[in-house]
Amino acid sequence: MDYALLMLMSSLTLCLPFPSCSAPSVGFYAGSCPAAEIMVKNTVRSASDLDPTIPGKLLRLLFHDCFVEGCDASILLQGNGTERSDPGNRSVDGFAVIDSAKRLLEIFCPETVSCADILALAARDAVEYTGGPSVQIPTGRRDGRISAAANVRPNIIDTSFTLDEMAKLFSIKGLSVDDLVTLSGGHTIGRSHCSSFNDRFKVDPSGSVTVIDSTLDRQYAIQLTKMCPAGARDDSITVNNDPGTPFTFDNQYYRIVLEHKGLFQSDSALVNDNRTRNKVVEFANSRDGFFENWAVSFLKLSMIGVKTGDEGDIRQSCSMPN
Ligand code: HEM
Repeated sequence: MDYALLMLMSSLTLCLPFPSCSAPSVGFYAGSCPAAEIMVKNTVRSASDLDPTIPGKLLRLLFHDCFVEGCDASILLQGNGTERSDPGNRSVDGFAVIDSAKRLLEIFCPETVSCADILALAARDAVEYTGGPSVQIPTGRRDGRISAAANVRPNIIDTSFTLDEMAKLFSIKGLSVDDLVTLSGGHTIGRSHCSSFNDRFKVDPSGSVTVIDSTLDRQYAIQLTKMCPAGARDDSITVNNDPGTPFTFDNQYYRIVLEHKGLFQSDSALVNDNRTRNKVVEFANSRDGFFENWAVSFLKLSMIGVKTGDEGDIRQSCSMPN
């Protein structure tokens, strides 16, 4: 579907039942805080210049926020029993960058820009920073008041999920199987802890490697065992999701997945199913094709369950309720 049409439809759908509601729109802060987007972009750029692992963290942070209670910054709230405290979000990071952008925005535009928007913009900018497409997204999301650890694992995809299970959860969020293939391309940047994939192989005391998951390339598994020595379960070691171009947002992920070198079983699942394989091949052959689809799927992701109008708040601090 045409990108502009999709944006128009998302704002109409959000506002139809509420004649007076202020629906998210591109440039929502043009009047109230014209520098909002540039301040977020600059914060992401400075943080990523200092630490190249930041873009991957920000992108995953948005994914985990949007799938639980919608894109409402509920993942940012600190405290016992919040989404952030759940083991399913143990390795999610990037919070400090959002807090830092919020502090800046509170100085120039107090109580105006939502944390949910900052997070969506930051993830968008993280992709652009690493060479991905620059995507215009609506702003005007409001911050949620509910953040419960119990809501995390039923809404987040585990690496052991089958394609059916992934497709089902994506469909509940309004995303298609094509969106699943496209958004999985987010694994072209970022890093993963050994514990997220080392159940796919086993090293016995003599050093011999058994590949438990036959969808993983054996030579790559052997390489991974060297980076993740047996027993490396302390979560101190991370491996690049895309070993070739780990800090560049490109279509390399799809090439890797076709070579059975995707880090997760859920990556391999995309090549082993007729519903998804063609798209993987298409994106492996065309960076532009991937980027065009990314713009549409990312927009859909960033609009899942957004709160508008009188719903939620504009938080003053992203990690604490008002
Ligand atoms: C579809 C099923 C998905 C599964 C099962 C999955 C699973 C995971 C896992 C286990 C990690 C490693 C976490 C760690 O060990 O630190 C990871 C990392 C990552 N994921 Fe996914 N993911 C999925 C989809 C997505 C989507 C849709 C996006 C973005 C649109 C995304 C973006 C990322 C990024 C950027 C990282 C690297 C994070 C970092 O560098 O800290 N993933 N994913």
